Amino acid sequence: MRILKLAVLISGNGTNLQALIDACAAPDFPAEIALVISNRPDAYGLERAEKAGIKAITIDHKSFDDRESFEDSVHEALTEAKVQLVCLAGFMRILTATFVRRWQDRLINIHPSLLPAYKGLNTYERAIEDGVRFAGCTVHYVRPDVDTGPIIIQAAVPVLSDDDPDSLAARILPQEHIIYPEAVCLIASSKARVRGHKVIIDDMPVPSGAYIAPVPKK
Ligand code: GRF
Repeated sequence: MRILKLAVLISGNGTNLQALIDACAAPDFPAEIALVISNRPDAYGLERAEKAGIKAITIDHKSFDDRESFEDSVHEALTEAKVQLVCLAGFMRILTATFVRRWQDRLINIHPSLLPAYKGLNTYERAIEDGVRFAGCTVHYVRPDVDTGPIIIQAAVPVLSDDDPDSLAARILPQEHIIYPEAVCLIASSKARVRGHKVIIDDMPVPSGAYIAPVPKK
């Protein structure tokens, strides 16, 4: 079985990193984490990686003069570790078009909304404010415009009338932990292919790449 070498880029808590660590621990999972990079030295995700025996480094954006030299350093670390797929997981730096093009179709992200709705920050607040009935999360290939790119998997959750941003986030996050490893698995097993601005998924039960979480019982 081909084992895809991953890097996970984080800035904080790293629960999605943990989901990927746990998935990779299964003997039949077709990927392994070769490297974790944090742009913040205090990111808890670094400890998660260390606990799992995974190489984890900090590349602090604050110690570089500009975005390009920070990204050059990240690129070098990824190349040195022979990384084949880069997973952004709560990585709070906007990447330049140059970096994104260097890693075109080898760079994926998880975002806490049903893209293309609610790109950017404060997704839960904005969904509640708009009164939408469904929210969710998306794993997608990264393109130069923030939170755009071919969609691999989405999970939808209901928005309840008494939700606040915290309760909605708490409903979405466990779905992120399901779909991120699933997306990696699809890519690693060559079942997800980018075609134009879409991802085609082979061999998936219908509806492919879509998960709907049940409405919680009161
Ligand atoms: C997640 O909600 C993810 O979708 C967003 O940032 C959050 C990171 O959470 N990009 P964690 O660090 O993985 O716990």
